[in-house]
Amino acid sequence: MGTAITTKGLTRRFGSKVAVDHVDLAIPEARIFGFLGPNGSGKTTLIRMLCGLLRPSEGSAEVLGLDIKAQPEAVRRNIGYMTQKFSLYDDLTVDENLDFVAQIYTLPLGKKKKRLAELRDLYQLNEFRQQMAGTLSGGQKQRLALAAATMHRPKLLFLDEPTSAVDPQNRRDFWDSLFNLVDQGTTILVSTHYMDEAERCHGLAFLNQGVVVAMGEPKELMDNVASTVVQVTTQEIAAAKAAVMALPNVFSVAQLGARLRVMCRPSMTDAVETVDRALKQSAIDARVEAVSASLEDVFVEVTRTDERSAA
Ligand SMILES: Nc1ncnc2c1ncn2[C@@H]1O[C@H](COP(=O)(O)OP(=O)(O)O)[C@@H](O)[C@H]1O
Ligand SMILES: [Mg+2]
Repeated sequence: MGTAITTKGLTRRFGSKVAVDHVDLAIPEARIFGFLGPNGSGKTTLIRMLCGLLRPSEGSAEVLGLDIKAQPEAVRRNIGYMTQKFSLYDDLTVDENLDFVAQIYTLPLGKKKKRLAELRDLYQLNEFRQQMAGTLSGGQKQRLALAAATMHRPKLLFLDEPTSAVDPQNRRDFWDSLFNLVDQGTTILVSTHYMDEAERCHGLAFLNQGVVVAMGEPKELMDNVASTVVQVTTQEIAAAKAAVMALPNVFSVAQLGARLRVMCRPSMTDAVETVDRALKQSAIDARVEAVSASLEDVFVEVTRTDERSAA
């Protein structure tokens, strides 16, 4: 299998701010690869460089065998890019939006009609043809944006937080569409801050402050969490939280309804017993058990500083 994207020390600064900091990636073809990270971690900046839209300050990248610095126009012609805001013309109809994009990619007239009909069928746009894009629902806008971004059948598709504005059912349908594209050989690079979406990716890079802090397959990343994740179920959640936070080797306590997810440093041997004992000493009735790490736990672990966090 070939490599769709290779980067070496890819860096972008804005003034003194380092938005993307020496990123090395090798992303295989015909896979979905995810960029995961909080707001401001550099996902959009990285994607815009890889699309040939933003010049790197330092480092290099090859996209579909093209050098992003030397051949940015060729890169732009060969990829598809769906932005966070979908980049549709609100005052144009669905048909006019698609037509406009077809012109950009200079599809010949005969082919154009066929391709537009195909895309309308595939992304269920036939009943909205004369509707202004601005009046579509989030899910409909997303389908139109995906149709536009894949008009020219790009081998590589960039999707920047594509599901932020749609409901869970639409998100599932959208991911089905993505897997169909991958089955046809398309490589997809998607940024997200949804852990359930990240889990569907073949490979992931976690970004924090412009730095890739972890990379691998979702399962591999979860299996490699060195901290012990302890779950506490109790009616006395506030008191339990305070008691657990007081333990020296606990670096994160997150509340999920009537449960606490407690992350304990690898150095804390017998984490379950220690947490259990601390709760008993505070006379808190609770069930304490070790649970397997989630992608969210991976993220908490790789971004942890010496400060302890509570959420
Ligand atoms: N054009 C710009 N000028 C100055 N700073 C920018 C610009 N674009 C992004 N940044 C900064 O770079 C960092 C990364 O931003 P961004 O790539 O948009 O992150 P994300 O997409 O992960 O939310 C942020 O601190 C942001 O404020
Ligand atoms: Mg962004």
